Amino acid sequence: MESIVLHDKRFKPYLSAEKIHAAVKQMASTVSKDYEGLCPLIVVVLKGSFIFAADLVRELNMDCQLSFIRLSSYEGTSSSGTVSSLMQLDTDITNRHIIVIEDIIDTGTTIDFLLKAFQTQQPKSLKIASLLFKPKAFKGNYTIDYTGFEIPNDFIVGYGLDYNELGRNLKDIYVIAE
Ligand code: IMP
Ligand code: MG
Repeated sequence: MESIVLHDKRFKPYLSAEKIHAAVKQMASTVSKDYEGLCPLIVVVLKGSFIFAADLVRELNMDCQLSFIRLSSYEGTSSSGTVSSLMQLDTDITNRHIIVIEDIIDTGTTIDFLLKAFQTQQPKSLKIASLLFKPKAFKGNYTIDYTGFEIPNDFIVGYGLDYNELGRNLKDIYVIAE
């Protein structure tokens, strides 16, 4: 893998598609065991999670339903600190088992906003699955139920994640080169 340029920044290879897929399969097998017979509602947080979610749900060995929500907090390469909801859920979550699918949890601001909004609607259970987690940036005091990779506090792109809307379509994950 070669390094790449998106807008004004250079990125170097970080996680290969093979490594990512192994982690996704592993997570899917755990989720399938945990939710057997429960038909959870999987809430995909757009845009960044669309590739991860597509790969994850195809590895699940159980019934599930899917819903999509769009939130936004990032500008450029850092969190803006405020979250805006750009899209409403189309499914009632009351009394349902909910799994929120995130691409990455950084400060935790985005997921915090979502969890608080969801808890008021009384789901039967509420868990988070994130492909990537930056523990050093995380400010929340709850656990992330399913994590693919814990990574350092560096900006990454690829496999759904963007730098100002470029890089989402990359098969592998790249980290900013400084
Ligand atoms: P948080 O609200 O700080 O946890 O940030 C979560 C959201 O910011 C993620 O869903 C991503 O959309 C975006 N984000 C966080 N870290 C990165 C990164 O390293 N690259 C690209 N997007 C990121
Ligand atoms: Mg996101």
